[in-house]
Amino acid sequence: MRSYILGIESSCDDTSAAVLCNDQLLSNIIAGQDVHMGFGGVVPELASRAHQQNIIPVIDLALKTAGVTPDQLSAVAFTRGPGLLGSLLVGISFAKGFAMAKGIPIIEVDHLQSHILSHFIQDKEGVRAVPEFPFLCLTVSGGHTQIVEVRNYFDMKIIGRTIDDAAGEAFDKAAKIMGIPYPGGPLVDKYAKSGNPDAFQFSKPNIQGLDYSFSGLKTSFLYFLRDQLKENPRFIDENRDDLCASIQRTIVEVLMDKLIKASKQTGIKQIAIAGGVSANSALRSAVLLLGERKTHKVFIPEFRYTTDNAAMIAMTGYFKYLKGEFASQDVTPYARGGML
Ligand code: KG4
Ligand code: ZN
Repeated sequence: MRSYILGIESSCDDTSAAVLCNDQLLSNIIAGQDVHMGFGGVVPELASRAHQQNIIPVIDLALKTAGVTPDQLSAVAFTRGPGLLGSLLVGISFAKGFAMAKGIPIIEVDHLQSHILSHFIQDKEGVRAVPEFPFLCLTVSGGHTQIVEVRNYFDMKIIGRTIDDAAGEAFDKAAKIMGIPYPGGPLVDKYAKSGNPDAFQFSKPNIQGLDYSFSGLKTSFLYFLRDQLKENPRFIDENRDDLCASIQRTIVEVLMDKLIKASKQTGIKQIAIAGGVSANSALRSAVLLLGERKTHKVFIPEFRYTTDNAAMIAMTGYFKYLKGEFASQDVTPYARGGML
């Protein structure tokens, strides 16, 4: 029997809806929010309002693109958290009202679990190899940096995490220091392509175990630039590409060192990456290199499933649908913590 799941993502600044038929993705619509660009970060109140404006057109387009009518839907999956409460409320409230009107169940999804489970999405681009359990997933986004031991779809354990900034924040803050607009991560990646990754050296954090820290790196980058700008006020303009390549290399080395350490400690040789920063070309190359050496089996997500999207929400929703795990109508969002 065919099950049709509508997935809704509204945890931060992307309003997204996707439709899945069993494990096959039929549509995945994402509306970004330019309104934050001038502010150097996401403004929660503006994000909620933009979600409110976008949600109906985005869901309508997702259903039309999929060629699925509201009456065909089996369930509605939505992001419950973690994320911005005002943003989450828009998606959750829509899911509740819509599902009640159609007499179908709702399914709550943890945003971070869904980034990991995005590796299981199948779409019309062709059959994709999926990781086998157990595998390690480095989840790197604007809000999180975690090494997760994934034992099964919903049996996941965090074995390493950042004690301060997330990897995406490290990219965005370094970009901001250089005057690159928010979100700076993708632009740092772009400029780094024309730069020398060994042009500048920045001190790497020295943290025990499998945890990460990025705040010291940001400070050392800031002080380095402050000193250079005293000598040459045009230093950033003249060295932008080399600076981007060097800070990117450093962040990627820090991420990879702990990931390899985690693999040694657990003996798990299957490695995946997920989340917005898994779109980074240097991180993707570093993980692919590990795969080429045949020491590890590696999985990098398709670009379109790296940053926030509802395809991953619908996918996770489908796995819960198969287990009959539905949420009640009085479910509320959570800003932090969650299933992991
Ligand atoms: O997963 P995501 O879309 O949202 C959160 O859940 O946070 O991740 C967004 C983060 C931002 O910090 C953004 O700068 C970063 O992912 N990002 C990148 C790249 N693409 C997105 N960072 C480095 N290189 C990229 N290509
Ligand atoms: Zn995310």
